[in-house]
Amino acid sequence: MMNEDVSKVLIDEEVIVRRVGTVAEKILLDFTGEEILVVGILKGALVFMADLCRRLPVPLQIETLNVASYHGGTQSSGVVEFLDGKSLDVAGRQVLLIDDILDTGRTLRAVKDSLLEMGARKVKTAVLLSKVKERAEEVNADYVGFEIGDEFVVGYGLDYQGRYRNLPYVGVLKEEVYETKG
Ligand code: IMP
Ligand code: MG
Repeated sequence: MMNEDVSKVLIDEEVIVRRVGTVAEKILLDFTGEEILVVGILKGALVFMADLCRRLPVPLQIETLNVASYHGGTQSSGVVEFLDGKSLDVAGRQVLLIDDILDTGRTLRAVKDSLLEMGARKVKTAVLLSKVKERAEEVNADYVGFEIGDEFVVGYGLDYQGRYRNLPYVGVLKEEVYETKG
């Protein structure tokens, strides 16, 4: 079982559900008027985006973007690569950009900049988690679910080597998981 690989639950399911509702209320205050374009960064944003969107009872469209910066380990590679071309039609739109976690900040910075270059009228960013640390890039999310310490976490969309995204909570893996599978 997956749960057996977890050493500690950092944020449990009910707490996440409540917080997602609160974040949605804040977003609704900032996005008025025309339709929202929600852009989720694959694959980490999937779970958060799905729950958050269902708390936004307004007209919106959902798009996804594929970028890579991690390549499977627990350390950021420092390079953000756009994997499926920049084909989103964002010109003149108000965009809510969603990611699972703000770590070095490189991913969110790079994606936000290119959405603005592509003509988005406004880009606000939402992350489930923000690691409290020095950022490699000048970037902060407009909406943050939870601030956490600088440790590697999984669950609620976040993976280790592609796994554990389906844990309904955010947790920390046992050391031995990295030793055997890393
Ligand atoms: P950044 O570009 O360094 O801010 O990294 C953001 C991306 O790295 C996220 O979208 C995650 O996919 C991944 N990441 C960063 N920290 C963690 C973590 O603790 N667990 C799982 N993935 C992480
Ligand atoms: Mg990842």
